[in-house]
Amino acid sequence: MSEATPLRSSKKKRSRKNYTDEEAAVYYEEEEMDHTTRMSIYAGAFFFGILTLWFFTIYLPGSFIPAATDLVGIQKITELDVTLRPINPARGLEYDFEDEEELNQELDKELDHELDQDMDQDMEITRKKGKSRAKSKRTVERIIMVGDIHGHYTQFRKLLKKINFRPKVDHLLVLGDFISKGPDSKKVLEYLIDNNIDCILGNHEYYILQNYAHFHGIDQPFFVVNGTSEISRENPFRGKDGFNDDSEFLLAKKLEPEHVKYINSCSLIKKLGDMPLHKAGKGFSTGIPAVAVHAGIRWDLELVDQDPIDTLEMRSLIGPYYNETTSEPDDENAVSWSKIFNLKQKEKEGTSEEQLIVYYGHDARRGLNLKPYSRGIDTGCDRGEKLTAMVVWAEHSKGKNGKQQNLYREEAVSVHC
Ligand SMILES: *[C@@H]1O[C@H](CO)[C@@H](O)[C@H](O)[C@H]1NC(C)=O
Ligand SMILES: *[C@@H]1O[C@H](CO)[C@@H](O)[C@H](O)[C@H]1NC(C)=O
Repeated sequence: MSEATPLRSSKKKRSRKNYTDEEAAVYYEEEEMDHTTRMSIYAGAFFFGILTLWFFTIYLPGSFIPAATDLVGIQKITELDVTLRPINPARGLEYDFEDEEELNQELDKELDHELDQDMDQDMEITRKKGKSRAKSKRTVERIIMVGDIHGHYTQFRKLLKKINFRPKVDHLLVLGDFISKGPDSKKVLEYLIDNNIDCILGNHEYYILQNYAHFHGIDQPFFVVNGTSEISRENPFRGKDGFNDDSEFLLAKKLEPEHVKYINSCSLIKKLGDMPLHKAGKGFSTGIPAVAVHAGIRWDLELVDQDPIDTLEMRSLIGPYYNETTSEPDDENAVSWSKIFNLKQKEKEGTSEEQLIVYYGHDARRGLNLKPYSRGIDTGCDRGEKLTAMVVWAEHSKGKNGKQQNLYREEAVSVHC
């Protein structure tokens, strides 16, 4: 072949002819690079890669780690610091909700615009009042309990909008599992903190605290009764030892001291005072003492003797004695704890033994579960089902003997998730 045919000439010659000098130089080097040079370039790239990896996974996150705050004891039992102020029956009509698909759709549209501009005014008034009435219980018109929010901030705000939540005259209590799993845990948390909202600890908040303590190398969360610490049974840290694929560990790492203090302030059980003794939606009734808890309580133990972890995780009791809990409803001989609890409360009818109503969440699988002595309101928002609020209020009424008495009423209100 003659040198005059560029395409068929040697590469070096072709490059001289068809490329600029610079390109040619690079080309030349690639061609001629010896083994040692190649290896040192590979080694350089490798170390650079390691350095980059170290910078982004260790150095950079490390420089953004929030300060740690020590955990204080989780209160086992607290009391609601508000009481219901019975309202005029005519006002009660305002609280009749329509739980219909249409209303839901309308709300969806409205809320897109309103989510962020409501309630600020109300809050300011509440804060001022709160200060001047530090000791005596605040009276409210409604006590509202919301089931497992799981970080679904938008649905939570929709629900509050739907029930026309007014911080001035309502008391809101979230029944645990308000964070973790869903998309906006931090937003939910910040909303609860900013609006001074009352809380019950859920198993997921507990796991988050465990992860938090593990990450910062501080003492694991513990429970207190009357200021005395209690560890009722072994409850080891069960996280995945801190690798970055555990979402609860990741969330725990990001928590600021104020977030942790809020979660840490939620109690396991809260005494609510009197609540209506009937199935929701069936009219007014007299009230009996009630408590709120995340998962459930054992019928055979006093409140003070309940096992903390059971109150966070139980779903069923195991027969034949029903004095042992499980979180797996499918376990052998397992029966929903609320079923047994209701039977046992019924047995007390007509005796002098005090009955109790329990409001709880945690059991999305069984969904809205309203029984005379128990009200399960986790309706599976995180499973794409619903988020539910139980709204309770009282009205004045004249009894048969002409005496004034309080009658209670409640309604479960939901939004789609
Ligand atoms: C301590 O707990 C017991 C049992 O629940 C209760 O009766 C008592 O009032 C509590 N004491 C204080 C000081 O809170
Ligand atoms: C449950 O009750 C049975 C019968 O009274 C008793 O033998 C058993 O120890 C109890 N179990 C628990 C966990 O309390």
